[in-house]
Amino acid sequence: MITSSFIIVAIDGGAASGKSSSARALSERFNLLHVDTGSFYRAITAEMLRRGLRTDDLSGISATIAHVRLTTQVQGRSARMELDGRVAGEEIRGSAVNDAVSHFAAIPEVRQALLAYQRGQAEVARGAGFRGLVMEGRDIGSVIFPDATFRFFLQADPEERARRRASEGQRDPIAERDRLDSTRKTAPLACPPGALAIDTTHLNLAEVVARMVAPITRALEPL
Ligand code: DC
Repeated sequence: MITSSFIIVAIDGGAASGKSSSARALSERFNLLHVDTGSFYRAITAEMLRRGLRTDDLSGISATIAHVRLTTQVQGRSARMELDGRVAGEEIRGSAVNDAVSHFAAIPEVRQALLAYQRGQAEVARGAGFRGLVMEGRDIGSVIFPDATFRFFLQADPEERARRRASEGQRDPIAERDRLDSTRKTAPLACPPGALAIDTTHLNLAEVVARMVAPITRALEPL
């Protein structure tokens, strides 16, 4: 039974498993703020690359994290991270960031710096008048919001995921990113206990969304 009207939906899964499209659909359907935490790690990575920092330069990385101010701009239904007041541009989807992001995301100092910021998105959603938030990433149902109202874990065959990325015109080493994301020591990618796992390999978007909407609608009905 859902006792609070503010809901948190956590969606975890590997690259190109269908998280973003389904999260956007849920945000429309239930009036939720959409938070793509991959874009946060990507923006941080772009900033580190811009400063010429390598992943083994822990003191440079820590100093950057300590000084950069993280705030949120709500654009439509989405949360955009601002670094020192600036929203990162399209470079966060480029191949330099694709190649480096899992390496920076594996650094505990980087994850720690984003922890409170990510949890703070619930306040952003409340303040902006949303009914809740849908947050996607790798450790949302396990670390960021282990008590999320709803938790989903999306997966799909690697060949299908590579095909999806290629059809978006992206060069993205998703198998290697998955390997790094699921074997790192801090907050590895894994299906959180109690999450509903959905294999999206042979499902279209509407079918994936329908599988998520059903339990949410059932739980919210008495409200
Ligand atoms: O969702 P994405 O593919 O845009 O995420 C980019 C990378 O960021 C991903 O390979 C690992 C990292 N990431 C993470 O470690 N934890 C999250 N919650 C989200 C992303």
